[in-house]
Amino acid sequence: MRDRKRVAILISGRGSNMRALVDQARNYEVALVASNKPGAAGLAWARERGLATWSLESKGADKQEYDQTLSAALEEYSIGTIALAGFMRILSPWFVDNWAGRIVNIHPSLLPKYRGLDTHARAIGAGDTLAGCSVHLVTEELDAGAVLGQAQVPILGDDTPGILEQRVLAAEHRLYPEVLNEFVLR
Ligand code: GRF
Repeated sequence: MRDRKRVAILISGRGSNMRALVDQARNYEVALVASNKPGAAGLAWARERGLATWSLESKGADKQEYDQTLSAALEEYSIGTIALAGFMRILSPWFVDNWAGRIVNIHPSLLPKYRGLDTHARAIGAGDTLAGCSVHLVTEELDAGAVLGQAQVPILGDDTPGILEQRVLAAEHRLYPEVLNEFVLR
């Protein structure tokens, strides 16, 4: 049985947002940390914390088969909410449909601006004075689902994409848990 308060966090890399979601959980339990990269740094942290983990390399796998295997793992843990946190893989329409309305993601821009990659370089290049991050529902179209919450940070005169990334990341670590703590109640 799916339980909305049982959250799976899906990661591919360092997992700093995952750590923030674990540390600031109030209304949900992180019941599983899953990754398409068995070597993801975030997985080691999750294991050390005693969290349940699941991983399976996605490279070379059949997309739909992979997503069915992932989905079955989530069902086994009675997951009802999926939080993508640096999960660098586009989910199949089948998966998104199967979990419709229950997948959220954090994106490092003020959506609808700068969907996709290289958001910080693009914001600086455009001469923007504000950047930020958005938590949004995941739909079939990349970074296009309803925005659930946003946080803004300034872009300063001598910012490089790397400096801006750190400022936005700090905002992500506050925003994502705040939004997820509310989202699991609905
Ligand atoms: C973050 O910038 C997030 O907004 C984006 O991917 C990055 C993940 O970083 N979706 P981390 O693995 O959470 O540190």
